[in-house]
Amino acid sequence: MSYSIAIDGPAGAGKSTIAKKVATKLGFIYVDTGALYRAIAYDFMKNKTSLLDKEAVENRLKIIEVSLAYKENQQHVFLNGKDVSKEIRQEKIGNVASKASALKEVREKLLSMQRDLANSHDVVMDGRDIGTQVLPNADLKIYLTAAVAVRAKRRYSELLEKGETPDLAVIEADIKERDLRDMSREIAPLKQAQDAILVDSSNASIEEVVAQIISFVKEK
Ligand code: DC
Repeated sequence: MSYSIAIDGPAGAGKSTIAKKVATKLGFIYVDTGALYRAIAYDFMKNKTSLLDKEAVENRLKIIEVSLAYKENQQHVFLNGKDVSKEIRQEKIGNVASKASALKEVREKLLSMQRDLANSHDVVMDGRDIGTQVLPNADLKIYLTAAVAVRAKRRYSELLEKGETPDLAVIEADIKERDLRDMSREIAPLKQAQDAILVDSSNASIEEVVAQIISFVKEK
């Protein structure tokens, strides 16, 4: 039987950095499910598919193929055979992914893929609905959050480091908007699963949170 750890939480709580480190320490694979939604959003943007046009979305989804591969322990996302891992990291794609992920057809397309991965591998999977919908029987569920101001500041610093010229107020407003949309959508909204452990990373370092999660695994 494979072992699965679900890490859900709002944008910018540090899920991917922490999940990656936990996976490396345990020898599990890390599955960034946000990247799957981002790949679909990227395709919709490139093809000017309107999210309001149900038929256009359904037709496009028939053509889209999203897959994951692991190279040197790094997850790569492929969109119809092309590695789009870098392109999908843009801020605007995160926002479109948040909108696209509210659509039932988009979520359905990605569900079995996520479950199959967890059935065949030990995984640390991060996203918004992993503990509530994708892997309701995950061995360990974490709901990772942090104060919105802290999340915005972290994102701001990341973008500065990348050489961009971010605006902190805009980033904070974007994060708030995205949280609200992800938490209030009808299908699979972001929420803490009943049996998830709440971890607040506002005042904790990445290493502290990683150590905390590893200790939960050992306690189980
Ligand atoms: O984690 P992220 O920022 O890469 O995710 C981008 C968007 O994708 C997020 O705002 C909502 C959506 N998403 C989702 O609905 N369910 C998931 N399991 C992961 C992401």
